[in-house]
This record gives sequence, C-alpha cells and structure tokens, in this order.
Amino acid sequence: MSTNKIPEIHKKEQQVVMHSWCVQQEWAAPTITGGQGAQFWDDSGHHYIDMSSLAECSNLGHQHPRVIAAIKAQADQLCFITSEWGAEPRRALAQKLLEVSEFEGGRVFFTLAGADANENAVKFARWASGKAAGAVVARQRSYHGASMATMNFSGDPRGDKYPLTEKVLRVAPPYCYRCPFGFSDANACARECVSDIRAVIEQAGAAEVAAVLMESHAGTNGIVAPADYWSALHGLCAEQDVVLIADEVMAGFGRTGKWFGWQHAGAEFRPDMMTLAKGITGAHIPLGAVVVSADINARLEASMLYTGLTYSGHPLSCAAGLAAVRAYEEEGLIARSHDLGQALFAQLQQLKQRHTIIGDIRGAGLFAVIELVNNRTSREPIVAWGGVNAGLRALVNEARRQGVSFAVRSNLLILAPPLVITETELATALSLLDKLLSQFSATITGTLS
Ligand SMILES: Cc1ncc(COP(=O)(O)O)c(C=O)c1O
Repeated sequence: MSTNKIPEIHKKEQQVVMHSWCVQQEWAAPTITGGQGAQFWDDSGHHYIDMSSLAECSNLGHQHPRVIAAIKAQADQLCFITSEWGAEPRRALAQKLLEVSEFEGGRVFFTLAGADANENAVKFARWASGKAAGAVVARQRSYHGASMATMNFSGDPRGDKYPLTEKVLRVAPPYCYRCPFGFSDANACARECVSDIRAVIEQAGAAEVAAVLMESHAGTNGIVAPADYWSALHGLCAEQDVVLIADEVMAGFGRTGKWFGWQHAGAEFRPDMMTLAKGITGAHIPLGAVVVSADINARLEASMLYTGLTYSGHPLSCAAGLAAVRAYEEEGLIARSHDLGQALFAQLQQLKQRHTIIGDIRGAGLFAVIELVNNRTSREPIVAWGGVNAGLRALVNEARRQGVSFAVRSNLLILAPPLVITETELATALSLLDKLLSQFSATITGTLS
C-alpha cells in the first residue's frame, strides 16, 4: 500500500502534530494531497472513495468548484473584516440560511465550528429565558463538541476526561434497537424517552432548566430518533417554556435527505434555535452558526450581546457558505440525498439478509448506521460502546488498502458519503463492504446465530 512508500513524511507529522482522539505515538496515516467529488487521494496516487464525508462534513464532496471559486473571488476582494463592520457575504449568507431553514424573522450568529455554536446557543437560551444559570437537558449517547462546556453537554464516554462545570441533566436516548425502557415498538420507546425528559424537567423545576440540547434526528453515536420523538419533545419544551436547541452540526445540509434533521417532523415542529457547522461550507473552510427563531430574536435584540469571536462571520467563510448553500439548492443535492438514500437502504437490507453479524440498520438519506452484533437474538454487540473491535479495525484498514474509506465507532459502521457520490462509486463501496463483512464474520463464526 502507498503508506509504505513515504514513511519519513508520516513519521515527521506524527512527531510534530497533535492529532485528536488517538494515542500520539500510534498515529500513522498517509498524506492526502488531493480530492475531487467523492474521492480523495494520497501522495502515492492511491485513491479512496470517501464513505464518511471525512468527519461527516464534506457533504458537497471534495473541492466543489463553486465553493473554491467563491473563496478565490472573496480572497481577491477582502479577506477579513471584523463584525464591527458590515460584510456582504455575511449578510447574504444569513439571509439565505433563514430562507432555506424556515426561520423567517430570526437572526444568525456566526461561529467558527460546531462546538462554539452549541456553547453560544446555550448562552442565548439562558439570556432569552431569563434563567441565567439554567441547566441544560442533554442525552446519554450524544455528541455536541470537544470544548470544555460541550464535552459536559455530550453524553459520551470520552467526556469522563473533562471536569463537570456545567449544569447538565442527563436523559435516556431514543435508542430503540435497545430501548432503555424495554419497549420493542420504536414510537412507544420514543414517547417513553420524552416522558423521561418531562420527569427530569419537572423534578428540577422548569424555572431552573434553560434548554434542551439534542441532535435533531441522527448522530454518529448511532441514535436515530423515530418520527414521534421530535414532535413530542417540541410540545414538551413549549409547554414547559424551555428553549429547544436542535444540534444540526452533523445532521444538517441534506445529510438525512432534508435540509435539516428536525424537518422530518414537519414545519410546525421547528426548534427555537439550531446550530450548524460542517456541511454549511461542505467543510471547505471552517464556519459554524446559531440560527435563532423570531421569538428568541425578539427577546434578545434590545440587549447587549455578550459574545466575542474575532472571526465571527469571517467573509471568506461566509462566501464559501453562500456558495455551498446555493450548490445544495441549485444542484438538487438535498433531494439527491433522499433518493440515493432510499437506494442505499434497499441495498443495506440485502446485506443484512446475507450477514447475520448485522443486527440493525437505521438512518435516512445518505446517513446509515450499521450495528454489528455477535448474536442477533441476544443483540450482544461485537464490542461494548466506547471500545474498539480489532476485527472491525482490520476491516477498515483492508478497505482503505482496497480504495474505500469507512468510518466506524465501537460496534457501528457509519455510512455518510458525500451527497455527490456517483451510483458507481456507491456500488463499488458496498460490494467491497459485502466481501469484507463475509471475511470478518468468518473470523467469529460459531458465535453468530
Ligand atoms: C452533532 C455534532 N455536534 C457538534 C459537533 C462539534 O463540531 P466541531 O467539531 O465543528 O466543533 C459535532 C462534530 O462531530 C457533531 O457531530
């Protein structure tokens, strides 16, 4: 494989760069030098079909020409101006986001990424509700970023490394394959999860709870909320006067076949705020945002906004964001995610019939979770949540060697290709997965049922 040809460069990067979520001395990866559409390649010319949009962020594929052109044009005109001054791409992107998100009359606060979008959304919720130190309701098995506060909000095993400084009320996730309340019907599971949230809010006292922060529909922790969840949660938050924040950082911009994940529930269930990042520029350049409703805007607009980010609304990022949103719109990519997603799920159901190691398949659009189990009856996972399965790791390494990059987390394979992936690329990736799953299953034959 190409990685053997340039060991010195890899070694150098390993020695001087700190890489997230890995042991520094163990980091070893090829150097990527280019990309186009759903593929990228390394400096030996080895190509990879990107089946995860990198960190579920390159929704437009790599090097989308419209986004590149917009960044170049803005760089020629004006790279930077602080938010003390106006900037045309900033205004235009805010207007466009309000339009496509059905947040008419709202406002947009620009951040640099997803974590600071979530932190600022919680600030806004506290100020708008008058609950200055109000608690945040957040799920087990959730992820909202790796800053100090957002790791507190995240229900993630990695959060144990962060001291608890935020007031967080932890609630059960709508993990219907393994319903925390024992229901086998997904919507019954979802309703019980929302009842649990009600109990938690009532126990704390609604006056002490500023916000509910949730991934809207799907997350890389494998939770895919069923239809009834969001609508019931929306009703509960309205009734209790608790601000509902949809974390759309991963689910947004067509990932699940809608512009935003909460839209699966319907326009009447629009949250009070939503947070964006990743797909907002298709990851071509960093950008995040908090979009607030007309009501939250009305509660905040006459007061001083105590936020400070030097690069808030950076013109280069906003120009990229505007080009990205136009690309989703004009190239029909949201509908493409929905349609291609249906074909993807049909193929995954066939895979499930062939491989008993697949316990469950869930998701929507071009976001699919494949949950792997040792035993379909007991649903015992191939590794406990938070752990690493050596066989699955080997599957990923072999797939890379054969030209496909898959994302895995504990016992989950997450398929989230760029929305521009071709049918042929998708078929190639799935056929390789089929082959590799057979080999992987064979290594644990005897435990499969
Ligand atoms: C749902 C969700 N929220 C927030 C974040 C944090 O975003 P960022 O890494 O841009 O800070 C992520 C990143 O993976 C995410 O998936």
